[in-house]
Order: sequence, then structure tokens, then C-alpha cells
Amino acid sequence: MERIYLNNDWLFAFNYQSEETVPVRIPHTVKETPFNYFSEEEYQTVSRYEKIIFAPDEWREKKIVLNFEGVAHSCKVFLNGEIIRTSKCGYTAFCVDIDEKLKFGENNELVVIVDSRESLNAPPFGNVIDYMTYGGIYRDVYLEIGSKTYISDVFAKPRANGDITSEIRVLGDVSSDMKIYQSIVDNGGVYLLGYTDVNLDVTINGSYNFDAVAWDIDNPKLYTLRTELYHGDTLLDTHEMRIGFRDVEFRKDGFYLNGKKLKLRGLNRHQSYPYVGYAMPRSMQEMDADILKYELGLNLVRTSHYPQSHHFINRCDEIGLLVFTEIPGWQYIGDEEWQERAVKNTKAMVCQYRNHPSIIIWGVRINESQDNDALYIKTNEIAHSLDPTRQTGGVRNFRFSRLLEDVYTYNDFIHDGKKPGCEPKINITSNRQKGYMITEYCGHMFPTKSFDCEEHRVEHALRHARVLNAVASHHDIAGSSGWCMADYNTHKDFGSGDRICYHGVLDMFRNPKLAAAVYASQGNSPVLEISSSMDIGEHPACIKGDIWAFTNADSLRVYKNDKFITEYSSVNNNSFRYLPHSPMLIDDFVGDLTEKERKLKPRQAKLLRTILNYIARYGYGSLPPHILLKAAECILFYGMKINDIVNLYMKHSGDWGGKSTVYRFEAIKNGEVVKTVTKTPMTKAQLYAEAYKTTLTDGDSYDVGAVRIKAVDENGNTLIYSNEAVTLTTCGPIEIIGPSVISLSGGMTGTYVKTVGKSGEATLTIRSQNMGEVNIHFTVNKDN
Ligand code: GAL
Repeated sequence: MERIYLNNDWLFAFNYQSEETVPVRIPHTVKETPFNYFSEEEYQTVSRYEKIIFAPDEWREKKIVLNFEGVAHSCKVFLNGEIIRTSKCGYTAFCVDIDEKLKFGENNELVVIVDSRESLNAPPFGNVIDYMTYGGIYRDVYLEIGSKTYISDVFAKPRANGDITSEIRVLGDVSSDMKIYQSIVDNGGVYLLGYTDVNLDVTINGSYNFDAVAWDIDNPKLYTLRTELYHGDTLLDTHEMRIGFRDVEFRKDGFYLNGKKLKLRGLNRHQSYPYVGYAMPRSMQEMDADILKYELGLNLVRTSHYPQSHHFINRCDEIGLLVFTEIPGWQYIGDEEWQERAVKNTKAMVCQYRNHPSIIIWGVRINESQDNDALYIKTNEIAHSLDPTRQTGGVRNFRFSRLLEDVYTYNDFIHDGKKPGCEPKINITSNRQKGYMITEYCGHMFPTKSFDCEEHRVEHALRHARVLNAVASHHDIAGSSGWCMADYNTHKDFGSGDRICYHGVLDMFRNPKLAAAVYASQGNSPVLEISSSMDIGEHPACIKGDIWAFTNADSLRVYKNDKFITEYSSVNNNSFRYLPHSPMLIDDFVGDLTEKERKLKPRQAKLLRTILNYIARYGYGSLPPHILLKAAECILFYGMKINDIVNLYMKHSGDWGGKSTVYRFEAIKNGEVVKTVTKTPMTKAQLYAEAYKTTLTDGDSYDVGAVRIKAVDENGNTLIYSNEAVTLTTCGPIEIIGPSVISLSGGMTGTYVKTVGKSGEATLTIRSQNMGEVNIHFTVNKDN
């Protein structure tokens, strides 16, 4: 079938009865909201969308299906005044045949009445929810047009060894002289798998073997599976989709991809963005997947707490990011009608998403709900019968719950800074034969804003590191997905009172907090992040505390005022030894004093190094006996006075007065410096901005460019406490989403520009009073 997008040229009325409309494009949110401090009441409305569809005469003999990928949260669809469809799930797609209803050679009036109130008797509604639910037609709308007899669905089950079976569903006037051909299209070549007869049965099975390269996280090889329906020699319909040949399995001792054990390391993702909530087009969905894989070095994402855009999951397929996806819902189970809806949602989720190779498990319980055997027996049965290739999980937050699923998936919030990073599997489930994975940790246990003080931000990062390390130490835990990727707007009952849950390792604009470096440093691209600004006044009593390097280098060299201090090897800290790349504790600011202070004896220099570094980390308020003994040795055996030690402290680790101290940190990989971080008191603040991509394409819908903005010092370090205001202006065919005057927060902010239906060159100018301006140039192409 041919796909024709219907995202452009809609009219919208916030109140469905209002005569007044505004032109809009899909994805659309019923209400743009402020960044924070707004009420969830703002988007709760019954609104109206209208669109004229001209149906040319050539369509008369065709099958025509109208598809909505996502409408939040319930809607009624009218065509030429007649109601043709209703929907009650804001997170899955629905479609309706309209070939019998259209007027050909004429304009047809499509009207969608959308109810985004949270009173709907369907998941996730009924009680409190820790995320905003927004409203509107926020995912693609399109027509599929083709022959009256057509391939309505193909479910392919490709295995890593090249075996491929598919269930093909043909609808229409099926006759016995029809045949289905299936082939693999790869790199321009077409490889015929074989063909099957179309019996009067609508579901046909094709079973073949293909010499395939397996789909893997490092080599996510995708092929196109082409399915063709022939009537005699006439090609009636062609169906194409991408597939990956792979095997996924949770076993009692972990997760296996293509027979090889893989520790899952992931984060949870909400699909929301500042200002527009859920309404972001393809490029922004793809950007999130890219950030998770390439910037945070993850191999897993959980689409909490609902199925997310196919654009997002398609990108996960392309880049090899594994996905845990689940039915919509949050803690609450409603009445019979509500539960019936949850069962329908399970069916919709599995049928709509089961061809994505990246999806490895179905979450078939309402996130963190109580046991409910009647409901969950049904959701498990549905998932298993519609997709025998994947196991089920279902996220709970309590121990020893009824395990109707294949994998016990559990939100383990035990780590509070002191308690262990995670619980052992046996403490949570008595079923040792099934797989076990941790689906959330951290989050509300330690909300962290990018503008929190350094101690807080470091502890946030270390908590994530401790949990990752603990999970890595348990061979029978398949892995984990932390809470969460990015901060998100939430209901009044949650968050910091400003309608934001500051639970992300990224802020809402996807700017990294320090904790992001914990994840990034487990990946492969060179990372070096130093946990401290090295400004002593930032700390209580000017005590620096522990300073960490998050890096995946082989070693770290530290220089002070260009003098070498020390080199740390990759595992200098036992507490993180299970991580592929352990954070390195920087605990030496002094180095070799014998060399610097020629008059010191080697033993004396060693004693002083320990004393001075201790004071730098913990202050001199209450020195422990082993440090006092060392000081006594210096005084008794080397004739030093207390003042001599204090002076040495001032000179070598106090960092007070005199010339600014310059710390240089070098990450060394295979003997080469792969990354350098320089920290010194800033003298010049500058504005820095970068766009996720600068070529935008306006076509099936508008395109969006995301821009990250920050204040940096002369060495590129983010100026965490800058609140500078910046103004945003554009010229050319783009416009700004959200306000045009914003302020930095945590030294960072962001903005989005969207295309306006025209091609050409465009510029976004970001201007600040004290830090100058940055121009970002975009090229906008027009696709149709
Ligand atoms: C979990 C819940 C998430 C989020 C998180 C915050 O209990 O599943 O949606 O609220 O807590 O830490």
C-alpha cells in the first residue's frame, strides 16, 4: 500500500465547540506550556481538529485506510459528519477503513474530537500519575492506499541463524489463485525466499532460511522483507518492512543476545519535551535514541510507561539499542472496563511493535501495580499468543509478587547512598529458574538539579555508579535501567513543586548532568569528566572532599600548574571494580614533594604528602590518629613546626592566594592523550551552542532542530551557576518553539526551532548581554 501523510493543513479549536480555529500541523499539542510552574489543568480540554481530504477519482477502486499513530487520550473521528471510529488509548495507533465512506472527486471533511482530560476511564488514568499526559494528535496521521485485496499485516520471526517464518494476513477478496512471494532486499539486491499459496485462510505462513548477518548491538544489520501478493501475473500489493535476524532470551542467569550473555545497561525514557509535551516529530525521537546510545553509551532503554513513537523505536533498530516496552499505566488498576482496555492495549502494543528487532521484552503489567491474577493472566496470554518470540515481564515494586511472566522485572530503590546498590535476586523472587532484571533505581531517591551544589551533583553521579557496579557484580541479574534519562514535567503530587521531576541524568533539554558521565564513561568513545570545578569555596569549610574522574581511559595524568602530580590507573578504586570503567578517585594534589622541596627527605616527603592530601579532602578540624602520628613524626624526627606543615598545605593543596592554580587532567588511552580537561578559576564567560542537526527537512510534517546552549569558561567547562538571560531570534524559514527569552539554569538551557513549510537558509541567533552571541545556520529543504 502507498502511504500518504496527512500531517499538514489542519485547523484546530482548543474548545471543540468554538468557531474559532487556528491552522496547525501534526504532531500537535493542544496547549503549549511553560518550562515549569504550570498546572496539569492547562492541557485538559475537549478540542477539535479539522482537515479537508480531497479524494481523487482514481481512488474509487482502492482500499483506503486512515491511520492515527497517537492521539492523546480519547477521540471520536468523523468523516463527512458521520462518526467512523473512536479510540481510548493515547499511546497506541488505530486505523479505520474509509474507502466506503469517502466522496470521490470531492472534498471530504475529517473532524477529530479529542478529549485530553484525565478523567478517562482507561489507563493510565484513575489515580495519581508521575508524569504529565498532555493532549492532542501528537503522532503522524496518514492514509494507506492500495488494492482492495491487500496485505494487511506481516509478522516476521527472523532468527539469528537465518531462519525466518512469517505470518501474513491478507484482507479483501482472497481467492485460491493468489500467491505470496517473499524476498529479502539488501543493498540493492533482491533475494527470493520463496512463495506460498493464498488459501482462503487469511493468515499464511512462510518459512525460509536466508544467509543472514545477525542483528547485534554493535552491528545492527537490517534487511528489508518484501512481501508481494500476486493474482495470476498481476501484482496486487507489496508490503515492505525492515527486519533484523536475532535471538533474544532472558535466562535464569542473565540476558542473551544471539546466544551470548550481555549485561543490560539502560535508562528509562519519557517521551516528553519542554513546551510541547509529547508533540515532537521524527528527528527529535531519533535524537533521543542517539543520545542514549552514543552519548550515554547504553545498550537498553525502557519506554516508561507506554509504547513510544515508531520513529524512536525505528532508530533503536538502526543503531542497535535494545528496548523494553510496556503497556500504558501507573500503579493504578481500575474497574472491569478499565481492565478490558488494558488488555486491548496489550494486544495493540504487541501487534503494532512486534517487528522491531530492538524490542526484547514486553511489559504486560501496569507499572508498579499490585498483583491481579485475572488481569495479568490475560495480558500474558495475549502477549505470548501474538508473539511467541518474546518473553514477558511486568514492572513491580514489591518482593515475591505472583510471577505470571517469564522475567521478574523489579524497581529496586534500595540504594539510598548507604545501603547496597541493589538487592540480590533471591531477596526479591523465589523463582530462581526465571530471568531477573532491575527496571528502575535512583530517581526520587535523590532528585538532582543541574544547578544543585557540587556535593549533591557528585553524590547523584556516585549513586548511579554504585547501582551499576552492584548490578554488574550479580551474575544472575540481567541488567538494569535507571530512573531516568531526562527530567520531565509532572503532576502536582510529584517533583519539586515546579511540576518537574529532576530525576534525569540529563535536564529537560537533554543537557548532561554530572551523572551522565557515569554512563558515558562505560561506553567506547573517549570520555573524561572531572566531578569538581576545583573551586574550594564551593565546599562547606572549603573542604574539597572526594574528587572523581569519570573516564574510560587506561589511565589519568594529573598536572598542577603544568607540573606532573600523579598518574592513576584505570582501577584505582576498589568500590567500583565490577564496572567496565571504574570512576577514578583523585586524592593526590601534592605529588612528589622531594622533587619540589629539595630539602625534604624521601620518608618525610611521603608523610607530608599523606597529611596534606588528607587535609585537602577532609579538612583539619578533626584529624584522625594515623594522620596525627604522621604529623608527630614530622615534628619529632624531621624538626618541623606545625606552621611549616600549614605553609606547605597552603602552597601545595590549599589553592589559596597567589597565582591561580591550573589543574590539567589527561585521559590516556594506548599511550596517547585522548581527552584533556583543564580547570582554573574562570576569567571569561562565553556562550556556546550546538545543534543536533543543521539540515532540516520540511515535508510530511515540520522538522525540528534541537539546540543546546551553555555558558562556558575559557577551557570549555560549563559555568554551572550562570543564570544569564539569552534572547533568541530567527531569520529565514524557521521559528522558535517556546519563549524567545530564556535563562540559563545550571549554566545550561536549550531551544528548538521548527520549519514553517518553506525551504531556504535560516539562522538562529542566541544573544546574551555579557557573553556575546552565537549564530547557528540551518539549511531547510522542502520534501514535497
Ligand atoms: C517509580 C515510578 C516512576 C517514577 C519513579 C521516580 O516508582 O515507576 O514512574 O515515578 O518512581 O523515582
